[in-house]
Amino acid sequence: MKMVVANMKMNLLNNQIIDYINEIDKFNFDKNVIICPSNIYIPYFLNKKYDVGIQNVFFEDKGAFTGEVSCSQIKSQNIDKIIIGHSERRNIFGETDEIVNKKIKKILSNNLSPILCVGENIDDYQNQKTNIKIANQLTESLKDINNVSKLIIAYEPVWSIGTGNIPTISELEKVVKFINDYLIKHFNTKVPILYGGSVDEENIQKIKNIKNLSGVLIGSSSLNPDTLNKIVRYLND
Ligand code: PGA
Repeated sequence: MKMVVANMKMNLLNNQIIDYINEIDKFNFDKNVIICPSNIYIPYFLNKKYDVGIQNVFFEDKGAFTGEVSCSQIKSQNIDKIIIGHSERRNIFGETDEIVNKKIKKILSNNLSPILCVGENIDDYQNQKTNIKIANQLTESLKDINNVSKLIIAYEPVWSIGTGNIPTISELEKVVKFINDYLIKHFNTKVPILYGGSVDEENIQKIKNIKNLSGVLIGSSSLNPDTLNKIVRYLND
């Protein structure tokens, strides 16, 4: 089964979340569907057939860090997967590769799984700098890390997130290969690679054929249970 990470971002109110859970409970999803709701709703999603992830973490263990959540707290809820370095965290909240690196170290030392988001912005894309950008992000984010066996990478071109535009399938295949080759060269291993950015129930039919792609990370398409279900089904057809 291929993986579908549902990044719900800061969406839905309490009663909508309850309806949402009632809907997705009908679909028989397994642990390859990873729902990442707002932190406030996480307990509602626990102990289901699908998996639950979290949209962010802080790199300290505990203490006076108002508004933050630690890896040990995540572990204590039996959550394993953590989205890290999403472009919204980078662009709106000023998260640098150095911060991302600290977070990944903490996540891996807790034996949890980071879903590291990398991707170029529109200028990089137009100037054919996609590979350079991704290599830089990987080098900085994975600095001083030896074991990446729990790592998952989500390739998310910034210009594709929430815009309805996606790279061509051949562009995507090249980037997936580039990331694979990078990890083999530097870590002598392969890790799951996901694509994220405007995935919907139509383009998934093409995306699913990309060689060596382990799944998708979806934002707005995850907010509609039927669309989410279709994406899960089509991806695994
Ligand atoms: P989108 O978001 O599917 O709404 O483009 C993807 C993401 O932000 O990861």
